[in-house]
Amino acid sequence: MFVVASQNGRVGIAAAMQVLRDGGAALDAVEAGIRLVEANPDDHSVGYGGYPNLLGEVELDAAIMDGRDLTGGAVGALKGYPHPISVARKVLEKLPHVFLVGEGAARFAAEMGFESCELLTEPARETWKERLREDLPPDVLAHLTEQPDLWRYVEIATDPERARGTTNFIAQDAQGNLAVGVSTSGWAWKYPGRVGDSPIIGAGLYADNRYGAAACTGTGEMAIRAATAHSVVFYMKMGLSVVEAGQRAMADLNDLGGRYLSGMNLIAVDRAGNHVGFSSRPDAKYLYFTDAMDAPAEAPRLYIPLNERWQRSTSGACSG
Ligand code: GLY
Repeated sequence: MFVVASQNGRVGIAAAMQVLRDGGAALDAVEAGIRLVEANPDDHSVGYGGYPNLLGEVELDAAIMDGRDLTGGAVGALKGYPHPISVARKVLEKLPHVFLVGEGAARFAAEMGFESCELLTEPARETWKERLREDLPPDVLAHLTEQPDLWRYVEIATDPERARGTTNFIAQDAQGNLAVGVSTSGWAWKYPGRVGDSPIIGAGLYADNRYGAAACTGTGEMAIRAATAHSVVFYMKMGLSVVEAGQRAMADLNDLGGRYLSGMNLIAVDRAGNHVGFSSRPDAKYLYFTDAMDAPAEAPRLYIPLNERWQRSTSGACSG
């Protein structure tokens, strides 16, 4: 039994391991761990307290996948519900669908009895306001909601330092079943309705008992385009080790053209429980906790540099 998580999973990884020790399923462990990250107001990349979109609305993405049968549930751009991972789990269990977004996802969350709340905390609101004050003309800021060309301001309001952040959990239970979950508030100051890789099965997460599992944090647009999490598992299916599979999936990202904020982090495991992390940043870490351990430990991620694909616009707006 083990749990592997991104570094911000520290608040939830012990609870996830406890679920496994109590005989719970990998899916339960992943959900329990992620719920605690979602509830952490100090984590501005996930759940309650997450940074909002350009209009100041917190929109959450999450997904969960069961490695036993490749079932999955996901929600995107969900407003007003602090635990998108649990709503995603209900999608998996209750609907003949995989992925709900926006109003439909919120309606379903209400039908499932989830409590809603204001997700935008005062510190997150202050940072959003401050950031926009720095970069947006006052007349635009004063009438942001009515802006007919809001798209022009996404680029200048997108801060490479704050743009990315997400939580990843992978667990294997006593029966050897794998599950993976991902939850995020996405890019800070994103265009309303933007959905990243986190709720997209194959992009932000993938689990298959027969081979292994993987999950991503970083620039979702890259993982969507390269189907990164699925690539890791697919390369294992093709016979590569988990280290080689992750290296190949990271290298694939250098084939992407166009212009985007470049950055990717992966955690990956094989079915035997070998785990590894990868990052395009040096000195990045991830967490692991096996049933033989008393407490979670940190491990370095393999550093795999990626091509830079971002130049900040000097015109004050997107071109084209
Ligand atoms: N990887 C999280 C996101 O891009 O939204």
